[in-house]
Amino acid sequence: MNNLAKPNNNWDAALYEDKHAFVWQYGEDLLQLLNPKPGEQILDLGCGTGQLTEKIALAGAEVIGIDYAPTMIEKARQNYPHLRFDVGDARNFQLEQPLDAVFSNATLHWVKEADAAIASVHQALKSGGRFVAEFGGKGNVQAIAQALYTTLKTLNIPAPVMNPWYFPSIGEYATLLEQQGFDVVYAILFNRPTPLVDKETGLANWLEMFASAFFIGMSSQQQIQVIRMIEEYLRPTFYQDGTWTADYRRIRIVAIKL
Ligand code: BEZ
Repeated sequence: MNNLAKPNNNWDAALYEDKHAFVWQYGEDLLQLLNPKPGEQILDLGCGTGQLTEKIALAGAEVIGIDYAPTMIEKARQNYPHLRFDVGDARNFQLEQPLDAVFSNATLHWVKEADAAIASVHQALKSGGRFVAEFGGKGNVQAIAQALYTTLKTLNIPAPVMNPWYFPSIGEYATLLEQQGFDVVYAILFNRPTPLVDKETGLANWLEMFASAFFIGMSSQQQIQVIRMIEEYLRPTFYQDGTWTADYRRIRIVAIKL
């Protein structure tokens, strides 16, 4: 793996909590699909600052949250000191006890080595255990990605090399799951246009948080210029009544370990 393809593990946890709460607020729907039960052993894979981990615990399950970013885990531990949070990598985590379920919200689009993540989830589950996940699916943030590519091309920067995102189709991800010994019992791909709360600065803040890999090596002046260009490119379609909307498209799956 080259450096540019490495997932970011240096998130600003305070900024994430302050300005991007929608990440876990939308994830509450996914909890209904997980339907955690008292006494179940559950992993929250990519737990961020722990909000959904806590909801799983409130249902009576024994939950562990892991995240690749030490900054997120530190904040999760501050937020919920009674829960267990560990730094871990989706591509090669191991737990002591076999699990009833692995839950993952808004994380797996950062894991290009999907095979490795699926293998880790598979070995962590009991037979009959469930994997319940939602992340960016095929076509996710397509207009934003196109604006990034077009803008960076004008500056002779190779955007595809910098792209840290993985947005599979149902067919692609379900095939990977089946190849590794899962039954895919539910899969859906749906548009979820997502308003960005910061009004005029919403898109700039989103880009700084989630598209930072594209800005590696740029001066801050150059970064500001690129963000302005992207805003102008997207403004006619994605800025309405003072609010930016991101063109999110989610894949949601439930798979059972055979
Ligand atoms: C997502 O949640 O779909 C997403 C977030 C950041 C970057 C790309 C996708």
